[in-house]
Amino acid sequence: MPGIVVVGAQFGDEGKGKIVDFLAEKVDMVVRYNGGSNAGHTVKVENKVFKFHLIPSGAVRGKKVVCSGGMVINPQELIEEIRFLERRGIEPDLVVSLRAHVTLPYHPVFDRASEKRKGEEKIGTTGKGIGPTYSDKMKRVEAIRIEDLVSNKFKEKISKVLEAKKKWLIEYGAIKDKNEIEKYKNVILNEYTNYGEKLKKYVGDDSLIINEALDQGKKVLFEGAQGTLLDVDHGTYPYVTSSNAVAGGACTGAGVGPNKIKRIIGVAKAYTTRVGRGPFPTELKEETGDLIREKGGEYGTTTGRPRRCGWLDILILNYAKRVNGLTELALTKLDVLSGITPLKICVAYNLNGKKLKNFPVSTELVEKCKPKYVELEGWSDLGREEWREIAKKGYDALPQEAKNYVEEIERRVNLPIKIISVGPGREETIEIKKELKSKREGI
Ligand code: IMP
Repeated sequence: MPGIVVVGAQFGDEGKGKIVDFLAEKVDMVVRYNGGSNAGHTVKVENKVFKFHLIPSGAVRGKKVVCSGGMVINPQELIEEIRFLERRGIEPDLVVSLRAHVTLPYHPVFDRASEKRKGEEKIGTTGKGIGPTYSDKMKRVEAIRIEDLVSNKFKEKISKVLEAKKKWLIEYGAIKDKNEIEKYKNVILNEYTNYGEKLKKYVGDDSLIINEALDQGKKVLFEGAQGTLLDVDHGTYPYVTSSNAVAGGACTGAGVGPNKIKRIIGVAKAYTTRVGRGPFPTELKEETGDLIREKGGEYGTTTGRPRRCGWLDILILNYAKRVNGLTELALTKLDVLSGITPLKICVAYNLNGKKLKNFPVSTELVEKCKPKYVELEGWSDLGREEWREIAKKGYDALPQEAKNYVEEIERRVNLPIKIISVGPGREETIEIKKELKSKREGI
């Protein structure tokens, strides 16, 4: 049975959590393939709001959920999320990969210290220790995996790691001097042995479990964290996260072959946002940007930081289509653009008098690009009830200007938009089963 990937088509925060929750009804398993607690997914069910950083949003539907080996896991936060679900009457059917790497208390310390040292050059990380955890994974000698955390070799392993890191623990301020190392080690040892005990019942071979499910004809949804332009290889380097957020990350992270993936859904907001530093050609630094931020509640789920807001960028969506092999798009937060007119969509960049149709490789060049826009007429402000009514009736009930906006995107990216989200609730979602007008006419 085919695997489905849900991937962010912009800079993260596209509303993947809501789309995954919507699709999860019809699947058997949801697998998160990259990142750690830098991500934040919000799912609204009736009047309950669920916020996750690690556990895939499919848990709310009672589905089997997997934290794959491509992830980095802060055990304390994972246990808190498990407890959060339990308090709401959900016993998560969770598998935590033995291959996943563990974020330890010194990783956030290193993350923040490294950002501080960079000063003006900082990345604007979430400060959750994600970069240092992945760096240790790549270094291979100073890393702890979930398999180590739950084994009786943990004491030996962590002692070696802390010994190797002694100099850095002092330099970055995790401990004052070398006399504190024993105490620091004992605190970590006690706390993390306890976490290991608690997580033991969830650990497993994610790749085996997922492939067996696929072979049995089960539907598996792979959920990416962050977005295409934050991918460590394909994003606006160095202003990126440290994992593979692109669709290919589902294969490397979860240990499945590319031939198992048949549907790749790129989730895009109807406009663009970015949190943290890095180039953003369509950023609005004036009042329209503030308006979008306030209307869309554009504040980070993990850090609470205000998100930078701007117009939709077709070059970014076409880039996401290429590097992920997108088969379709899901468009979120269309309701937020209500009452704003005219609406602009970036269709090309101007770089020193040259017209660019493709998103450049070099971050320095992206910084110099000036967007070229097409303008579309907006539609009037609608209340929550009106949006719910529209969602109930389906695509045809959208204001004509909103349909024009959607179809303009379809034409320019040449992909069908199959899901449109017009509000945070499950019921505020339009699923488009037929091909849209733009496709039918083959424009
Ligand atoms: P890190 O992943 O904490 O190292 O942060 C690196 C960059 O990715 C920063 O610009 C963060 O703001 C950004 N980032 C990380 N996770 C997310 C996310 O889930 N949504 C949006 N941006 C993110």
